[in-house]
Amino acid sequence: MIDEATLKELLLALARGSHDDVERAITNSEALDDDDRSLIRTALDTADSSAGMARALGDAIRGAGEIDFLANECYRAAFYLGDGLPDLRGNTLFEFFSTRRTGRVLDKWVHYFPVYTEHFERFRGRDVRILEIGVYRGGSLDMWRWYFGPQATIVGVDIDERAREVSAPDHVVEIGDQTDPEFLRSLSEKYGPFDIVIDDGGHEMQQQIITAETMFPLLADGGVLLTEDCHTSYWDAYQGGTGRPGTFIEWCKAKVDDINGYHRAGPVDRVWTDMVAGLSFYDSIVVLRKERRFAPFAEQVGHAEFLLLPRFTAQHLTELVAGRDAAVAQRDALSRQQAQERQEVAAERAQLQAELAAVQDELATLRAAAEQADATDTAQVVRDLTRAAATRITGLRRGPQD
Ligand SMILES: C[S@@+](CC[C@H](N)C(=O)[O-])C[C@H]1O[C@@H](n2cnc3c(N)ncnc32)[C@H](O)[C@@H]1O
Repeated sequence: MIDEATLKELLLALARGSHDDVERAITNSEALDDDDRSLIRTALDTADSSAGMARALGDAIRGAGEIDFLANECYRAAFYLGDGLPDLRGNTLFEFFSTRRTGRVLDKWVHYFPVYTEHFERFRGRDVRILEIGVYRGGSLDMWRWYFGPQATIVGVDIDERAREVSAPDHVVEIGDQTDPEFLRSLSEKYGPFDIVIDDGGHEMQQQIITAETMFPLLADGGVLLTEDCHTSYWDAYQGGTGRPGTFIEWCKAKVDDINGYHRAGPVDRVWTDMVAGLSFYDSIVVLRKERRFAPFAEQVGHAEFLLLPRFTAQHLTELVAGRDAAVAQRDALSRQQAQERQEVAAERAQLQAELAAVQDELATLRAAAEQADATDTAQVVRDLTRAAATRITGLRRGPQD
């Protein structure tokens, strides 16, 4: 339908806001036939701004089943011509990303930035542990370091050895396969528990599923698992398809049932019911938020008349709360008593240790004195023997006495 050169000319004309140039590009392009020209004109007529026209052109190209990157360029132009840019004004992470024209390559979809901000902002400037699977050229590790700050522990993982060489020297990069649960567990043991895991690895179904199955239970309480590029769940090349069993998106949909586990027959899943505080679906991203949940229960408040059986009456509830408070008070008193006893035992032990040290000192002094005394006795014996020997030698020299 359209070639790169014509599209470029069209988008530049739209950016200039010159309808004459747009018309000229459509008329003069040798890549377009009359049907294409009519399709493009119809698309452009549906919008009244350059941004809207660029977007409509993208829709038309996409609708015609053309190469994705041409539609991508239209949507990109639409965004920067005003279709989305104002929405991201004030998003500091996007500002970092969009103004970074040098340095290591960084590869993100632009609509991810509000999602990052929504889930990551609360971790900024804190002592958090972050794992990103998929390092590529190291650009995203640079971005996360800038965003989260120097206190954060940031670990990158890639299957490609080169990831370590291309990353900044102060970044931790581990080489391994995200489909290997043992490898993932070892990362959690070495650097975790992680507060954030970003899966931007291979985007294959098993890679995403194994990573989520392994890493979610190992997240810190309050942690987040963010899986990117989930659109592969719809792509043939990744064995995807709408509603197709085995895709990551289908795996996530099943998690909706798990989250509602208390309202279904059967046992409650201790991870996927009790620990998933939230499951958020966005275009191409799924976020699983981990937080220990209390068991859900319904409550009626207001006039006591409404607290009807079979629920506990207000009286029952008051007794229950009083019973709980008494039990808590008893537990606190017991732990205070135990702490006191522990302190006493520690003091007694310290005193015994001091006494033992004093006895040991005394023993050492006595031992030294005994050795000294032994040495003195031995010297005396030697002196006596020497003297006796000398007398005997003198006697022998004089010869026998008459
Ligand atoms: C999309 S790129 C990562 C982009 C990077 N996060 C960024 O934002 O610039 C995907 C990376 O995942 C890596 N990868 C592919 N399969 C993997 C696997 N099984 N385990 C770990 N990493 C894998 C690739 O080598 C590649 O570098």
